[in-house]
Amino acid sequence: MAGIEHSVLQPPGEGGGRPDRNLALELVRVTEAAALAAARLVGMGDKIAADQAAVDAMRLVLDTVDMDGVVVIGEGEKDEAPMLYNGEHIGTGSAPQVDIAVDPLEGTTLTAKGMPNALSVIGLSERGSMFDPGPCVYMMKMAGGPDVADCLDLDRPLAETLRVVAERKACDIRDVMVVVLDRPRHEDGIREIRDAGARVRLISDGDVAAAMLAVSENSPVDLLWGVGGTPEGVISACALKCMGGQLVGRLWPRDDAERAAALEAGYDLDRQLTVDDLVRSDDCFFSATGVTDGDVLQGVRYTGKTGASTESLVMRSRSGTVRRVSARHDRSKLRAITGTRYG
Ligand code: FBP
Repeated sequence: MAGIEHSVLQPPGEGGGRPDRNLALELVRVTEAAALAAARLVGMGDKIAADQAAVDAMRLVLDTVDMDGVVVIGEGEKDEAPMLYNGEHIGTGSAPQVDIAVDPLEGTTLTAKGMPNALSVIGLSERGSMFDPGPCVYMMKMAGGPDVADCLDLDRPLAETLRVVAERKACDIRDVMVVVLDRPRHEDGIREIRDAGARVRLISDGDVAAAMLAVSENSPVDLLWGVGGTPEGVISACALKCMGGQLVGRLWPRDDAERAAALEAGYDLDRQLTVDDLVRSDDCFFSATGVTDGDVLQGVRYTGKTGASTESLVMRSRSGTVRRVSARHDRSKLRAITGTRYG
């Protein structure tokens, strides 16, 4: 697939190695806006209000980006989610044509409870390249860094994969740490990890941040394992295509009705999907901004009466550049421009 910018800013074959437009540098304003809006509601016990604030702010800034975007991973169906719904057209409408995956607030409950690792995230790739989850809400996932990328296999018993990972990392299996969403559906898997001798870090929410942590250098976590949202799987794939590492996933219907709907819609429920299946483009862009303090990003901090600071990861898969962007914001100026959205 040709790079987005080759089809837009420079004709194919005439690039001459010239650097081109990096959309991620514009997307960081989008996630910063959403994080600043959601951060006002950290710890206030209202996850719906926090999510809505993030959605509204994200939508406002997204409309200023020069692109013809279609939301593939969004806030759900149009009727239930009047903004950033799946299929919605976003941006100024000019080239390039792109698919968009958004999670204005990944970790709504984390935000409502003032807990770590809530993020605002967006991923973008060439039109037609993003996996559409359709009726498939959940996915079994396993993610790890570049050193163990080829060791991940959902068909192999989990304990054996842990042994392969320990061997690859030249460490004792007791050193291996697996991050897992704390859910009843994972009881057997958690027992299997512990019986194999490895360690478990349970998290209450937020498997995008966990996937990013699992592939990060010098991370206290070696693997992510377990069933989480399929949309979050696609968003994680955008991040991992930029950061390196691998995520393998398999669609995980909750019941017979969901299984039938997925089969009817043509989904292969046996197939192991990789990051290249979830985002079939070598040119994808990703930005994440911390809402609450977390393992990979610091959350929004307030200074004085009108100041705020944010931290973001801004990345592009084609160049492999990963930027950590610290920004200082003047909330009174932002408020004057946009209304009351920034607190
Ligand atoms: P929200 O931001 O929508 O609250 O989702 C958080 C999350 O924990 C994701 O990170 C994860 O993929 C998914 O929910 C797991 O779903 P469930 O809570 O139904 O097990």
